Amino acid sequence: MSGKNASRKTAQPALVPRHVAVVMDGNGRWATRRLLPRTAGHKFGADALTRLVRGCVQQGVQYLTVFAFSSENWKRPAEEVSALMELFVQALQRETPELAAQGVCLRFLGDREPLNARMRELMAQAESAVVEPLRMRLNVALNYGGRWDIVQAARAAQAAGVELTEQSLGRYMCLADIPEPDLLIRTGGEHRVSNFLLWQLAYTEFYFTETLWPDFDEQTLAHAIADFARRERRFGRVSDKPAASGDPADPAGLRVA
Ligand code: IPE
Ligand code: IPE
Ligand code: MG
Repeated sequence: MSGKNASRKTAQPALVPRHVAVVMDGNGRWATRRLLPRTAGHKFGADALTRLVRGCVQQGVQYLTVFAFSSENWKRPAEEVSALMELFVQALQRETPELAAQGVCLRFLGDREPLNARMRELMAQAESAVVEPLRMRLNVALNYGGRWDIVQAARAAQAAGVELTEQSLGRYMCLADIPEPDLLIRTGGEHRVSNFLLWQLAYTEFYFTETLWPDFDEQTLAHAIADFARRERRFGRVSDKPAASGDPADPAGLRVA
């Protein structure tokens, strides 16, 4: 094996985040700039999600968690909320078989109770689809809030009579069975969490881009992943890299000679 191939083999896996979380923001502004109704932005946003999923599968991401509707998004005008719900129904009907064909299984997180029966039925059907071979798990946060998640976990832990510790409560949080997100991408230029995975993002690397969600493509994803690859994750420890004498083009010293 040539030296080049050998280095590629060792360098590759650590550079791709295992779990990517995405706040898909900017649909409304994208539409308004084109003198279109905000709901048109949401429609084009659905296509951007298709590109994100394809790109993540290609890059070898194992878990993808997207924020589709927050527990605060009910505060939007009623027409926008119902247009969004209709879009979710259509997307579920259209995309579930397509996702399975790509090796992607679906799971939802959030409070399903306020959702209508049709929607809940489609969600349950999508979750029970058999995907073989499995390449990536797609988690869709729908009527999700990070604070809601902490409260539901605390209630479940209390009902089970367990003593509250970080570990025991963590077991009842959404997505407790998969690794926490390595990388959070937020489009649309806002630098905030907006009540997404508050517990699970404790040590996630954040990547913000001005790109509005409907313009998101494989290249934006590649930039985010390349940026992630340059980060040094310390998890509270001190750096294990040599002090700043290194190459300014490779500050984290990740490049393999
Ligand atoms: C994100 O885009 C989609 C949802 C929150 C459902 P927005 O609708 O928030 O778009 P902006 O931020 O108003 O541009
Ligand atoms: C976050 O975006 C929620 C989703 C992307 C689904 P928002 O547009 O609702 O967030 P804020 O209101 O700007 O904080
Ligand atoms: Mg927004």
